[in-house]
Amino acid sequence: MPIHIIPITRRRFLRVSASGAVVAITAPAVRSASDEEFSVDPHRFVFLSDTHIMADPTAEARGINMASHLRKVVSEIVVQASRAAGVIVNGDLATDGSLPTLGAYRYLAQILDPLSKQGMPIHFTMGNCDRRVLFKEALTEMLPDTPPIAGRFVNMIETERANFFLLDSLLNTEKTVTEGSLGMKQIEWLQRAIDQHSNKPGIVICHHNINLPTNLGGTQVSGLRDGAVLLDVLRSRNCVKAFVFGHTHEWRNWEVDGIHFINLPTTAYIFSPDEPCGWVNVRLEKQGMSLMLKSLDKAHPKHEKNLTLFWRK
Ligand SMILES: [Fe+2]
Repeated sequence: MPIHIIPITRRRFLRVSASGAVVAITAPAVRSASDEEFSVDPHRFVFLSDTHIMADPTAEARGINMASHLRKVVSEIVVQASRAAGVIVNGDLATDGSLPTLGAYRYLAQILDPLSKQGMPIHFTMGNCDRRVLFKEALTEMLPDTPPIAGRFVNMIETERANFFLLDSLLNTEKTVTEGSLGMKQIEWLQRAIDQHSNKPGIVICHHNINLPTNLGGTQVSGLRDGAVLLDVLRSRNCVKAFVFGHTHEWRNWEVDGIHFINLPTTAYIFSPDEPCGWVNVRLEKQGMSLMLKSLDKAHPKHEKNLTLFWRK
């Protein structure tokens, strides 16, 4: 089955943005008349996760106004000296576990609109709080005409130094459950996609975590039900260098057989008071990747600490 990568023109992107729908599937960044005002770094990306936007702009969860947090994040991204080649929003786009609404996705698109006005492609994954049908209704124009897998929103983004493989781990389309699942069709697609593009480092991006082994302090709940199968796919393909996920609202990283596991922070509410919320500035290097947390709390000890990762041989 072919892998669909949709080139977005500036005109089309703005047309969709104006109707409240934003999703882009392309890299590097599109050119625009305003490019003279911005220097586009083709190796720089922005990672966000767990935005949890609701239709009501005043909605709060755990004492946090999610829309206000995301607006701050967007305002920080748009003033960066160089424009990122893309923004990846890694799932749990809408709601705090309550019933998702179409309005939530439209409001999310509205908050992210300053990024699209700068010509930054925005890529999304599905989290356990999301609903494909609502996402599709709000963002329908930018979805592939023939998705690589029926019923799942997966995609590959090719960049000069690495390929991103975006997975869809949303398990239950009727109600919000914490666990996620990929299913064998998606795992088989991923295998084919990676094998067909093994000439560059591969970075697999998924909302859900692969449960940590119990001997490393992990549990066997809340992550991917088929995480063990996915882990086998990642470990057995040397071009796979990193697995990026959200879901836990924690900023941390570790390695499994030289594969970097990168847990993205939330832009919204945190479960542990020690955790930061914010975004991650990412640069693909020739031999690895550098990441910097941009915490909304500038006094957080991890704010602007650089994380330099080298690819396994
Ligand atoms: Fe979340």
